[in-house]
Amino acid sequence: MTLSEWQNRIESRYRERTPKSRELFREARRFLPGGDTRLGTCFPPHPSYMVRGEGSYLQDVDGNRILDFTNNATTLIHGHSHPEIAETIRTQGGRGTGWMAPNPHQVKLARLLCRRLPSVDRIRFCNSGTEANMHAIKVARAFTGRDVILKMAGAYHGTYEGTEFSRADDGRPLALVTGIPGNESDNVLVAPFGDEETARNLMETHRDRLAAVVVNPVMTQGGLGLPPEGYLQFLRETTHRLGILLVFDEVITFRIASGGGQEHYGVVPDLTALGKIIGGGLPVGAFGGREDIMALFADGPTPSVSHAGTLNGNPMTSAAGLKAMEMLTPEAFEHLSRLGGSLRDELQRIVRDLQLPLEVNRIASLVSLDLAAHLRSDAATWERGARIMSLVHLALLNRGIKLYALYALTTVMGEAEIRILTGNLREVLEEARPLFS
Ligand SMILES: Cc1ncc(COP(=O)(O)O)c(C=O)c1O
Repeated sequence: MTLSEWQNRIESRYRERTPKSRELFREARRFLPGGDTRLGTCFPPHPSYMVRGEGSYLQDVDGNRILDFTNNATTLIHGHSHPEIAETIRTQGGRGTGWMAPNPHQVKLARLLCRRLPSVDRIRFCNSGTEANMHAIKVARAFTGRDVILKMAGAYHGTYEGTEFSRADDGRPLALVTGIPGNESDNVLVAPFGDEETARNLMETHRDRLAAVVVNPVMTQGGLGLPPEGYLQFLRETTHRLGILLVFDEVITFRIASGGGQEHYGVVPDLTALGKIIGGGLPVGAFGGREDIMALFADGPTPSVSHAGTLNGNPMTSAAGLKAMEMLTPEAFEHLSRLGGSLRDELQRIVRDLQLPLEVNRIASLVSLDLAAHLRSDAATWERGARIMSLVHLALLNRGIKLYALYALTTVMGEAEIRILTGNLREVLEEARPLFS
């Protein structure tokens, strides 16, 4: 069987299962360029349109029941429509969705997050992880009086033009998309994640222009990239020595421990960007950090840094987020970690048994099955591997399991869900195995 034959077989099965989704996608493309309003939801031949989520399962418009390991791109740490969170949202919806006034839920959520995150003395809410990073960078620039940031190649910090850069072969920043002003690259430096020498050289050379180093404690774009031993400590010490601020983007990694990646790795940044799990499934972002930096937002006739937002800290998001965070008890983290360990172990067994060119990465409740690093040496092999893995995901969807690059476990999952996933994955990967070579 060739790769194209396998693709045809999987896609035609998918078309048979999803006629209503196919029709909706046709309609969607008439009004929404590309058929949707976010990245990562559309895939060939067409996405599945969901109508319901409950616990670990989704239901699509065609009536298919789907075990979901995406959990809205790692956001739903308590699964879909958790009864306690759903009730909180219903109750708050009946009381009001927002006013031009602060609300008590916001204060409680702020207190909880400040207590949990070692770096966060003060916090402000916004509506997405993109905004959180944007504002963290803005206040870092205001505090230091410098313009430039250093970010890591391949790191995603949202669709904000100030961070949508990777690293060209000659080391210069490479704009990843169009629509970014040509001179934006004057304000960005890019280092490979984990490469201390390049980061040190860039920081030392540009120390007088650098406001901040922005980093994900764990790389989470297209799989998991764990930091080499001592790397985050190195960034902390070097930024501190050179008077540069350190910003952790914990939009995803906040879920790995009660105090996020900074607690897990024992490294305290100056500023932290948050999103995803802290809104209980509703739109959210937040950024916080050292009291003296965040003081630039303080009230007064003219706060030094402006940060407005009609829906910032709204009572719906704040109440749902507070409930979701309160449910993240030490026992919940233990459960998530145990499940993550089980999934990692079984995936490793599959890779070993079938001798696949894949590697398993895992941190707490996040697990990824990534192409083995040695495939990178040949672009065509890498591309073929990536194509096989997207077909693996589609084949799994045909079996009623939804995956993307990060498998995000939830507090309502158990060993039964892990067994369903790994049993099906083993069978699909067994089919795919000859195609890798
Ligand atoms: C590490 C990281 N930072 C920032 C963002 C942007 O968050 P949002 O999609 O809420 O804008 C994401 C989203 O996936 C992310 O993974």
